[in-house]
Amino acid sequence: VLLFDIVFNGNDSMYAEAEQAVNEAIAKYGEDKAVGFPDTAYTLACYYAETGTKITNLKEAKEALTYIKSIMTRERRLHDGFMSGVATALSAELIEAMKYIDGAQPYEAPYLGHMTDAQIRELGVPLVTGDIPGIAVIINAAPTVEEACALVKSYQSQGNFVCLVGGIIEQLKEANYKTGFNVRVFPIGENISSVCHAVSAACRTAMIFGNIQPGDKKGLQEYTFNRFRAFVNAFAPLDEKTVACGAGAIYYGFPVVTNDMDYTPSVPKSLIKQPKVEEFNATSLEARDIKIKITNVDIPVAFASAFEGEIIRRGDMQVEFDGSRVDCAELVHTCEMTEIEDHKITVVGPEVDDMELGSKNSIAYVVKVAGKNMQPDFEPVIERKFHNYINCIEGVYHTGQRDMQRIRISKDAFAAGFKIKHIGEVLYSQVKNEFDAVVDKCEVVIYTDPAECTRIRHEVAIPIFNKRDDRLATLTDESVDVYYSCILCQAFSPSHVCVVTPERLGLCGAVSWLDAKATHQLDPNGPCQEITKERVIDEELGAYEDVNEAVQKYSQGALEKVTLYSIMQDPMTSCGCFECICGIEPFSNGVVIANREYAGMTPLGMTFPEMASMTGGGVQTPGFMGHGKHFIGSKKFMKAEGGIERIVWMPKELKEFVADRLNATAKELYGIDNFTDMIGDETVAEDPETLVAFLTEKGHPALGLEPMM
Ligand code: SF4
Ligand code: NI
Ligand code: NI
Repeated sequence: VLLFDIVFNGNDSMYAEAEQAVNEAIAKYGEDKAVGFPDTAYTLACYYAETGTKITNLKEAKEALTYIKSIMTRERRLHDGFMSGVATALSAELIEAMKYIDGAQPYEAPYLGHMTDAQIRELGVPLVTGDIPGIAVIINAAPTVEEACALVKSYQSQGNFVCLVGGIIEQLKEANYKTGFNVRVFPIGENISSVCHAVSAACRTAMIFGNIQPGDKKGLQEYTFNRFRAFVNAFAPLDEKTVACGAGAIYYGFPVVTNDMDYTPSVPKSLIKQPKVEEFNATSLEARDIKIKITNVDIPVAFASAFEGEIIRRGDMQVEFDGSRVDCAELVHTCEMTEIEDHKITVVGPEVDDMELGSKNSIAYVVKVAGKNMQPDFEPVIERKFHNYINCIEGVYHTGQRDMQRIRISKDAFAAGFKIKHIGEVLYSQVKNEFDAVVDKCEVVIYTDPAECTRIRHEVAIPIFNKRDDRLATLTDESVDVYYSCILCQAFSPSHVCVVTPERLGLCGAVSWLDAKATHQLDPNGPCQEITKERVIDEELGAYEDVNEAVQKYSQGALEKVTLYSIMQDPMTSCGCFECICGIEPFSNGVVIANREYAGMTPLGMTFPEMASMTGGGVQTPGFMGHGKHFIGSKKFMKAEGGIERIVWMPKELKEFVADRLNATAKELYGIDNFTDMIGDETVAEDPETLVAFLTEKGHPALGLEPMM
């Protein structure tokens, strides 16, 4: 049988299933019944991206079948094969959508099904930085449970994001393998139709980050081909539907590696036969041109960014360190070259073996660094990375920072031989690795002796933190000579440029002015470049000729000009990985802000994904703006439109997160006490009328301001 016929047959059966599912749903609910996936503004994303048409009810689903049928041409040419692959994915999406009718939750743990827009946005920065080098989609059961676990672990330990479909999910479950979005192992579903959720993620990435217009077939294919580093591993035996999905994958640029030797011929870089499962990893990375950053750390457990989101529950922990209860600290300290012995790691006090099971302990680590180009300004930049570094250790969990960190070491990690000194090993290797341009020598001292921890915390760390805070408080946009551009996100948003200033951090929340400065120092030709600010156009708007020239240059002409402080006039663009989005709320003359984690409704009648879909892809969209959480308390937040007193609504959790700084700024700028009490949240209002009534009662200042449009 020819490969073409297998693809056509597989496509036919997937289509027949879709047709049946849609017809059954219509018989049950009628044509007007709503259709869609939860927490996305791009429903049904594969079909929408491909055709430009949204499917919102069963009638439209039925019409979609007609379109799908029309691309299922049957000549034995490459084009027909690829279009049948696409038709298979679109049919699969309809099958899956039927499962979600009426708010049903068709997937139960460990199965996860549909991925939310918020999750896709969360993947933005790590995909851009190469922290997630690739996306593996593994289909069917591996020959053995051991091989299944080993393959997933091999991808996970390289930081890749792994999606699973079919029998391999049961295999991992059998082996008690931890899965979930947070550890980058995402079991989608049992049936092959569920693979469309992975295709949907690729399509939404193109629309969210790439500004690919829905219906731009060629643009979509080029984007997924060039920028979405996914690939497929499919275990034998492959049925016809799976092969048809594979044709779709190859069309979108995702090579398929399989151990099913029945299918001929292999197509270099596209359809690759690999009989050895242990070679799947290397073969796949090579086919997709994925380079892995090698981080060799000499510790007895795995070290990879995929473990960053891992959570250690109380029952699973061996010991814990808790800065909120006992004296703890983490500190980078600049020293003279002669004061440091490179790679020396000292533990002062008891090791984990000497600590009681389940006990709470003190810990303070001082990372001494020295280097010709080292500046004290880089200390907090390096220090803030400790959180990532320690979290990347398999079986170790870290939250908080400074003297309020909390660390848990799991029983499994302890059993594998993990010790306190290995934390030092990780800090040493990562600091040397990432900051090699400024750190020539590095030594780590870890204190677990309680008296020493108290001394380090109170006599060494806190005075340094206080000094740094004083320095940060004096860092204003006016007090510096240069801002920085950041174009890291251009890997996914080709025309997006962030302008990072002391009072306006990057919209991802991960790049402050100090970070950008350090990045520039570390890599002078890298993503962060200095922008002078000598030729002021309008101070109030934050408009500068220098800034405009820079964004023109770094956006390759896609952007003419941006302002730093306005949401209405030439606002800064968004890539898509913003922590928050704000949008104007016309009834109160204010703005509503929603954060990525917020799943509910806002008074704009839009959820976070819907608000977020109003901007992105490096395009200017007056009235909507993506930004970092810390920007909310800034004196420069929408300064041109009156500043933070425009904020009328935020989710409760976000409000609490920004309260201290926001209230302090409101007090300083407008003399308002407890400003956050005047701001609505979901417990107060999810519609504009109730919100305005609440604001009126509280005397919110926005009501007295000029309308913004
Ligand atoms: Fe992306 Fe902007 Fe963050 Fe840089 S600062 S990583 S461009 S969002
Ligand atoms: Ni104390
Ligand atoms: Ni981004």
